[in-house]
Amino acid sequence: MALEGKVAIVTGASGGIGAEMVRVLVGQGAKVVAADLNQAAVDAVAAKYDGSVVGCAADVSKYDDVAAMVDSAVSAFGTFDCIVNNAGINILGAMLLGDDFLSQWEKVTAVNQTGVVNGIVAAAKKLVELGKPGVIINISSVYGSLAAPMTWPYNVSKAAVNMMTKSSALELAPYGIRVVAIAPGRVDTPMLREGKKIGVWEHMRKEQVRDTFTQPSEIAEVVAFLASDASNAINGSTVAAEDGYMAFKFPLVPSEEQAKIEMEKYPDD
Ligand SMILES: NC(=O)c1ccc[n+]([C@@H]2O[C@H](COP(=O)([O-])OP(=O)(O)OC[C@H]3O[C@@H](n4cnc5c(N)ncnc54)[C@H](O)[C@@H]3O)[C@@H](O)[C@H]2O)c1
Repeated sequence: MALEGKVAIVTGASGGIGAEMVRVLVGQGAKVVAADLNQAAVDAVAAKYDGSVVGCAADVSKYDDVAAMVDSAVSAFGTFDCIVNNAGINILGAMLLGDDFLSQWEKVTAVNQTGVVNGIVAAAKKLVELGKPGVIINISSVYGSLAAPMTWPYNVSKAAVNMMTKSSALELAPYGIRVVAIAPGRVDTPMLREGKKIGVWEHMRKEQVRDTFTQPSEIAEVVAFLASDASNAINGSTVAAEDGYMAFKFPLVPSEEQAKIEMEKYPDD
């Protein structure tokens, strides 16, 4: 198994993608610290794995929590090899001219940017202290490159994650530490399902070239690959795991009903 003997930390581990990361990493032989805000929720994740997973309550926006989380990996399993900075939030509807914009910006930035910085710093310090190589995996998004509407702070936070990844890879390379990111497209989790509340779910589904959303397990498989020595040639990159979403304009879907409306509205001369 590719991750036999490795110890990984996953933040946001009781969420849609994080819980699948824990499952897939354990399946590849890793021991895992499952971290999230709520101790009962991470204990419930850990309870499924018969000693291979321990739960750890940690708020990634607080450095002391994150440093303690990294220490807990070494206490529980004797070493530490990989962190997946996966915890993230989005506030749909956060727009520059909205009344709450500045507080929305602060909330998203605290988790999506400061949370990732905290994870990078605490993990890198521990790896250097242990004198061993390791891998830091940051979860970005296609919105780190696309200016999608209604999610201004989220888009900016994910663009920052992409640059944090490159800059950290450069500084940490002398210590044998790789830093990589994954940019998922649309993954079927509670975060994506928020789109139903504002009526954009079906629109998003139509933009999927294979007419289906990515599954959390599919992102988790990419994490397992990047955590393994098999991906040794990948460093500083943001790996696209978005079903080709960034490569095309979304396909036109011809419809007779829509054609009638358009022919009436815009008749030929
Ligand atoms: N779902 C998607 O379509 C999609 C697409 C691209 C990127 N992503 C990214 O994937 C990651 C996981 O998202 P998801 O879809 O599984 O979302 P999710 O909402 O299901 O899970 C996110 C988890 O992060 C935890 N969390 C939030 N704030 C935290 C904090 N301060 N400290 C620790 N944990 C905290 C939440 O409790 C939750 O369990 C996020 O970084 C997200 O931005 C998701």
